[in-house]
Amino acid sequence: MAEDKNSIVSGEVQGQEEEQAEFSLRPQTLSEYLGQKRVKKEMAVYIKAAQKRDEALDHVLLYGPPGLGKTTLAFVIANELGVHLKSTSGPAIEKAGDLVALLTDLDPGDILFIDEIHRLAKPIEEVLYSAMEDYYVDIVIGEGQTTHAVHVTLPPFTLVGATTLAGQLSAPLRDRFGIVEHLQYYTVEELEKIISRSSKVFNIEIEPQAAQELARRSRGTPRVANRLLRRVRDFAQVKGEKVISFATTASSLQQLQVDEEGLNQTDRKILRVIIKNYHGGPVGIRTLAANTGEDVETIASLYEPYLMQNGFLLMTPRGRMVTEKAYVHLGLPLPNR
Ligand SMILES: Nc1ncnc2c1ncn2[C@@H]1O[C@H](COP(=O)(O)OP(=O)(O)O)[C@@H](O)[C@H]1O
Ligand SMILES: [Mg+2]
Repeated sequence: MAEDKNSIVSGEVQGQEEEQAEFSLRPQTLSEYLGQKRVKKEMAVYIKAAQKRDEALDHVLLYGPPGLGKTTLAFVIANELGVHLKSTSGPAIEKAGDLVALLTDLDPGDILFIDEIHRLAKPIEEVLYSAMEDYYVDIVIGEGQTTHAVHVTLPPFTLVGATTLAGQLSAPLRDRFGIVEHLQYYTVEELEKIISRSSKVFNIEIEPQAAQELARRSRGTPRVANRLLRRVRDFAQVKGEKVISFATTASSLQQLQVDEEGLNQTDRKILRVIIKNYHGGPVGIRTLAANTGEDVETIASLYEPYLMQNGFLLMTPRGRMVTEKAYVHLGLPLPNR
C-alpha cells in the first residue's frame, strides 16, 4: 500500500491489513482496555448500576480525536453488559426507515452504536429524540394517498454515539445523552503498555527502548502506535532482525517522516503555512484548510487537538496562532512580535 502523506496519523482505518489488525488488537474487557482511567472508573460504576437495576444503560456519548479507542470502548461496554451491539454510522443512515429497522431489531438492553454521530442527517436525528427519551418512534410511511403515521414502540436500548467533533452535535441531541465521556490522549507509559500488548498479539519482539521511542512518537494515539509498530516491524524484517532494535525504530521513523515530537509532514505543513503566509497567525480554520489542502473537519478533529495539546498552536478569539515552540521546532527565526 502506498504511504500517502497522512497515512501515519490518519484518522481513517487504512485498508484490509489495518482493519484486520484493529480487529485482532481490540481489547474485549474494561480491564484489557488500557489507560483512560477516569472514563473506565466511571463506566464501571454505570454498568454495574444498570445491571443491578436490570435496566438498559443510559445513552453514552464518546468523543475525542480519531484512534483513541471510541469504537473499541463501545464494544467493551456491550461485552461487559453482556448485550448485543449493532454498529452503524451517521452517514450510513440515509432514511428514517433505516434507523427504525435497526432499532426494532434490538433486544431489550442492547446497544446501537452510531459512529460519526455528528454527521447524522437532521430528519433522522429528530427521529432519535423520542427513541432515546421514551423508546418510541412516530414515522410516516407510504406515499401520496396511502400515507399514514405509525407509532412504533421500541425495546429499552442504549445508544452509544461516537464523534470526533462534539462541538458539531446539536444541543437537543447532546442533551439526550446521560453519560458523556471525553477520551484523552494517552501517556507515553500507557502507549508502551499498548505496544507491548500488541507485539504479543502479533508475535513480535521489540527492545524496550524501541517500544518507548514508538510510544513517544505516536501522538498519544493507540491507532498510530499500532500502525507504527507494524511499519517498523516491516523495516526490521527486511533487515533480518529477530528483535526490533532501537536503531531500526529510529531510522524507520525518520524514513516515515515522523519527527522527534511525533509530528508528521501535515502537522509541520500546517505550522509552516501559518508562519510563512500569516506571520504566525491568527488565521481562521477555513483559510488554513484552503492553504494546506486538508479539509476543515480533518484539521479540527485530527491535527489541531494534538498541536494544541503539545503547545505548538493556540486558539485565540481571532483564530489559530503558532507558539514560539513551533518556530523553534521548525528551526525558523522568531518574529519580532
Ligand atoms: N484503551 C485501549 N487499550 C488498548 N488498545 C486500544 C485502546 N484504545 C484503542 N486501542 C487500539 O487502537 C485501535 C483504534 O481504536 P478505535 O476504537 O478504533 O479508535 P476510534 O474509534 O476512537 O477512532 C484499536 O483497534 C485498538 O487496537
Ligand atoms: Mg471508531
